Amino acid sequence: MPPTEAALQASFDATIAHHDRIEPRDWMPEGYRKTLIRQIAQHAHSEIIGMQPEGNWISRAPSLRRKAILLAKVQDEAGHGLYLYSACETLGVSRAELVELLLAGKQKYSSIFNYPTLSYADVGTIGWLVDGAAICNQVPLCRTSYGPYGRAMIRICKEESFHQRQGYELLMTMMRGTDEQRAMVQESVDRFWWPSLMMFGPPDDASPNSEQSMAWGVKRNSNDELRQKFVDMTVPQAEALGVTLPDPDLRWNAERGHHDFGEPDWAELTAVIRGNGPCNAQRMAHRRAAHENGAWVREAATAFAARTAQEAQR
Ligand SMILES: [Fe+2]
Ligand SMILES: [Fe+2]
Repeated sequence: MPPTEAALQASFDATIAHHDRIEPRDWMPEGYRKTLIRQIAQHAHSEIIGMQPEGNWISRAPSLRRKAILLAKVQDEAGHGLYLYSACETLGVSRAELVELLLAGKQKYSSIFNYPTLSYADVGTIGWLVDGAAICNQVPLCRTSYGPYGRAMIRICKEESFHQRQGYELLMTMMRGTDEQRAMVQESVDRFWWPSLMMFGPPDDASPNSEQSMAWGVKRNSNDELRQKFVDMTVPQAEALGVTLPDPDLRWNAERGHHDFGEPDWAELTAVIRGNGPCNAQRMAHRRAAHENGAWVREAATAFAARTAQEAQR
């Protein structure tokens, strides 16, 4: 006799309670599967769309060394996207379907990639702040309850910390340069600081799905906890760099043992998520064109795989 739904649910709950991992072959509640598909897909799409703002500067890198570094970094992001699409496929959805959902606007990607990159300093700032925020979000996901997602995150986090140091090193080099270069860094940090804080999502009291995700062990920390961690980590780095973070309310609070900081513009985050950020239309148009231009590659690869399988049968 097959186990009852109640027995399956009890075994799932026990696995979560023991902080053990759920694997693709295991029974899981439909809500858990759907939440994971949504989250992993959004994460995969972010890696792929996230190639665009920096890819914009590959052909205009200031030296061969900087070009090689940036090329490698953007390629890493493509790799992250592929690990994550593969992790998502273990939940019974195909990569082709996920890409369709992105192109139809039915799945999202991180709001941060809807901001433009206006100078080469942005390559450094993205490495330092955007990859830095991504690390704060992603390190706890290495312990997420779904096995394939957690294992993908372990590999990704190693590369993300390299990306962050790469960005910081670029900014440090510019800060040791001319007044003009220092001004470029400050201007870039001024533009990216608040959008980086928004990467952690809305405040906890306005984040309706968070509680269930925490109960399932999909999420390990709340949005506000992670945002605080990021601010505390970044302030001393900004001081070492010699840049000013554009927040007049930012100061150490000895009583809390954390930095206090100002409120991000949540109306702006909502607008960007709804598709009205500075670059949403451009990012999606570019992704759509790349998808259409790559159709012949997918067709050729499918035909080749079919022929190879046929020959193997003979
Ligand atoms: Fe990445
Ligand atoms: Fe990265």
